[in-house]
Amino acid sequence: MRNKKSGTVAVAALMLAAMACAGITTHGQSARTSKSEPAGDAAKGAQVFQDRCEICHFSTSTKKKIGPGLAGLMKRERFDNGMKADDEHLRIVIERGGKDMPGFRGVINDAQVRDLIAYVRTL
Ligand code: HEC
Repeated sequence: MRNKKSGTVAVAALMLAAMACAGITTHGQSARTSKSEPAGDAAKGAQVFQDRCEICHFSTSTKKKIGPGLAGLMKRERFDNGMKADDEHLRIVIERGGKDMPGFRGVINDAQVRDLIAYVRTL
C-alpha cells in the first residue's frame, strides 16, 4: 500500500512538473524570437572559431581547406547548400553540420553559437 501511495504522489509531482515545464517553454519561446536574443560577441566568437572551425575553414579567404573558406560568407546571397545566408541558417549549419561537416549542437553552447555568428558576420 505504501508503494501505491508514493506512486500517486510521484504521478502528481510529475504532472506538476510537466505543467511547470509547459509554462516555461511557452515563455522561453516568446523570449527566443530573434530580435530579443542577446547579440553575440564577435571577439569571443573569434576564439570559438579558432578552437572549433579554423581546422577546416580559412577565415580570410574563400579558398578550400577541408571546407570552403568563409571570407565574405554573410555578404553572399546563399550558402553552397542553397540556404539563405542569414543568422538563422548559419545557426542551422553550425548546429547540424553538413555532408562532411560535423554538427556542433551540444558541443558548443547557445551563447557560443551567437558569438560565432557575430564573428562570421565580420569575415
Ligand atoms: C571537420 C571539418 C569541419 C569543421 C570542424 C567545420 N566545418 Fe564547416 N564545413 C565543412 C565542410 C566539408 C563544408 C562543406 C559542406 C559539407 O560538406 O558539409 C562546410 C561548410 C560550412 C559552411 C557553408 C559554407 C558555404 O560556403 O556554403 C559554413 C557556414 C560552415 N561550414 C561553418 C562552420 C563553422 C562556423 C564551424 C565551427 C563551428 C565549422 N564550419 C566547422 C567542414 C568543417
